[in-house]
Formats: sequence, structure tokens, C-alpha cells
Amino acid sequence: MFNFDFYNPTRILFGEDRLGSIDQLVPADAKVLITYGGGSAKKYGTVDKVRNALGDRIVHEFGGIEPNPHYETLVRAAEIVRREQIDFLLAIGGGSVIDGTKFITLAASYDGDALDLLKYGFSPIGLDVIGHTVPFGAVLTLPATGSEMNSGGVISYGQGKYPVFSELAFPKFSILDPTLTYTLPKIQVANGVVDAFVHTTEQYLTYPVEGRIQDRISEGILQTLIEIGETTIAEPENYDARANLVWSATLALNGLICAGVPQDWAAHMIGHELTALYGIDHGQTLAVILPSLLEVRREQKRAKLLQYADRVWRITEGSEDDRINSAIQKTRGFFESLGVKTRLSDYNIGADKIPEIIEQLKTHGMTALSETHDLTLDISQEILERAL
Ligand code: NZQ
Ligand code: ZN
Repeated sequence: MFNFDFYNPTRILFGEDRLGSIDQLVPADAKVLITYGGGSAKKYGTVDKVRNALGDRIVHEFGGIEPNPHYETLVRAAEIVRREQIDFLLAIGGGSVIDGTKFITLAASYDGDALDLLKYGFSPIGLDVIGHTVPFGAVLTLPATGSEMNSGGVISYGQGKYPVFSELAFPKFSILDPTLTYTLPKIQVANGVVDAFVHTTEQYLTYPVEGRIQDRISEGILQTLIEIGETTIAEPENYDARANLVWSATLALNGLICAGVPQDWAAHMIGHELTALYGIDHGQTLAVILPSLLEVRREQKRAKLLQYADRVWRITEGSEDDRINSAIQKTRGFFESLGVKTRLSDYNIGADKIPEIIEQLKTHGMTALSETHDLTLDISQEILERAL
């Protein structure tokens, strides 16, 4: 196992009817800005419930944070934070609103041009760049990204999606009430299952380093998602299925399973280009890329693919190659069973588009991806060709 630092200060309040706790978690004299997306949080009454819990505090609202949140929208909110001297932010939504709110607090506290904050990539932005940030909490309405308990965000600008990381961007608290997710359209639930699944494989399907506890937690998350995936889509108000999805998605990306082990993230980096260029949902891009990536990278990942076949899918018969083939096939079949397509052609993307995807990867510096930093543009091209 590699050396690691593990730090996660986010308080989680899990379960039904937890919104009342906001009153204790937000300072009594705070001036609050509630942030939300295109309207679901308003329509289904969550904004009103949160306002209610905030009692007499001065509350402003900023709606309209779009899926794949745009830089331009977020800097407008940052301006409001400064102008109104907001001292607490409350994000109500999924990954886009929570990521966006992370960026709002960083941008509001940054003295220079906020665009600079998109240039750090995976290097965390520290106190030397931003002195003090406005704290924020989150009310999760879409289980998928893990943003509710991590310090990262992905911000869209022009034709790119830019990762932003900072310890200053951990939520102070996140409320995870599975019932707030019942109103999600089926495709968003399915996207969430896929996203949580692929977060886990990005940190698990690499090469073995005797990280036994990390492996077993990862296998537990993957098995749980396989067990509840179809049910939570077919029965949106099945509390137990949805509660397990919510907690799986949070644990899949809160720093626990990546501690001390190699990490890949190539499926995400290639997937981000598909979202930026063609507007395909984040989860959908991962369902397209992961199965092809596993086929192309089967030698680098051989030992872990065999472990995955055995422990997650219970495939024990046949040659090594047969077992790996079956595990990849089952992965693809699982995504399809959730109603998430796994081919570029399902999104009308043909071979003619591959050069522009590769060009974007090059522009964004994605030339040496994966746990071994040897996934070149040629290999990305092969993965995309297999995904057609
Ligand atoms: O905007 P509204 O009207 O709220 O509708 C949203 C949106 O259209 C809707 N929705 C959310 N909660 C709902 C609901 N509709 C009905 N009922 C509810 N309870 O769902 C749509 C999608 O929301 P979005 O937040 O975009 O989805 P998701 O949570 O999948 O987030 C995707 C974003 O997160 C980033 C992605 O790149 C993408 O920008 N990621 C963030 C990560 C992180 N912070 O660690 C890691 C991920 O890998 C990912 O890259
Ligand atoms: Zn993701």
C-alpha cells in the first residue's frame, strides 16, 4: 500500500427529515445565499423547506446554475457574495450545483481574475492563493458525483471542463435525505448509478498494491450498486434501495477508497471531452468509455480485472481471458440494463468525430493518462474506436 494523507472534514447528516438541522449548523447571524439549478429544487419545494429552516436569517437566492456549471454563471454569483457580504452559502442540488458553489466561494474570495482558478488542474488551490473562503453546506438532490463530501469540482468554460480542487472547497456539512431524490427523472438516477460505479472502478481497476481494505470497500460499493441499480430506477420511492445508492455514491468519491492505491481517471478525462463537445450527460459518457477502455487496457489491468471478475461478478470458470471478457461484458450489460447506452453511435457520434475528440484531449494536456501515465493519445483513439 502507498503512503497517504486522508483528510475529510465534511459532516454528513443522513436520512429523512434532516433539513431542520440547518438551523443548528448555520451561524445564527449568517447572511445566507442559497444556490440552486434550473428549477427542480424550487419546483419540488426544497428551497422553501430550507428557507423555513433558516428562520429569521437574511437569505438571498441564486438560481440557474446549469448542468455542467458554466464559469460565466458562477462568477455572477461570486459577485453577489461579495456585494451582499454573504457569509454562508447553501447549495441545493446535484453535482453541478455543489461543484458550482465550490467555485463561487473560491472565486468570491480570490483577488485576481477568477479564470486563473481553472489553471490548477489536479493541483489543489491552497491558502497561499486564497486566504479565506465563505463556508458552505449542501443539500443533495442527486446521488452521483460525491461532490457532497469531497473538495473537487468540474467547471465548464468554452469547450472544456476544468477540474478545480481545494481543501477550502469541502462542504461544512451535507444533508443526504434519500427522499429528496425521489423526483429525479429515471435517466438521472441511472446516470448516478453509472457515475458512482465508474468512480469506484477508476480507483480499483488499476494494479494490485495490497490495499486489501480499499479493494474490499470498492467491491462492496460495486456489488451494492449492482444489487440496487435496477430497483432504484424502477421503484423511485423504495427508500432502502435509494438510501443505498446515495451512500454508495458518497463513499465512492470521498477520498476513502483512493487512499494508498493507484488511480486511473482516464474514462473520466475522455468522457469530459464528450460532454464538452456534444453535451452528452456525464454518466452516459462513462458508460460509453469504460467498457472499451477495459478492453484496450486489459494487460495493464489484468490482475485487478481477474479479481473484479471473481469477487464482484462471481465469475470463476474459464480461462483468464474468458473471465476478463465476461466481466467486461457484464459491466456493459449492467449499464445497458439501467437504460444507459454504451456506444458512441447511440449518440450519433461516428468515426469522423474521433479526430476532434483527440484534438481536444491534446489541447487539455490529456496525453499521458491512467494509473501508469502511459495512456497516450493513440491509445485514447483506440478506446474511442472500440466504443463506436
Ligand atoms: O437544474 P435542475 O432543475 O435542478 O435539474 C437537475 C439537472 O437538470 C436535475 N435534478 C437534480 N436533482 C433533482 C433533479 N430533478 C428532479 N429532482 C431532483 N431531486 O438533474 C439534472 C442533472 O443535475 P446535475 O447536478 O448536472 O447532475 P450530476 O449530479 O450528475 O452532476 C454532474 C456534474 O458533476 C461533475 C460532472 O462533470 C458534471 O458537471 N462531476 C463532479 C465530480 C466531483 N465534484 O467530484 C466528479 C464527477 O466525476 C463529475 O465529473
Ligand atoms: Zn464522475
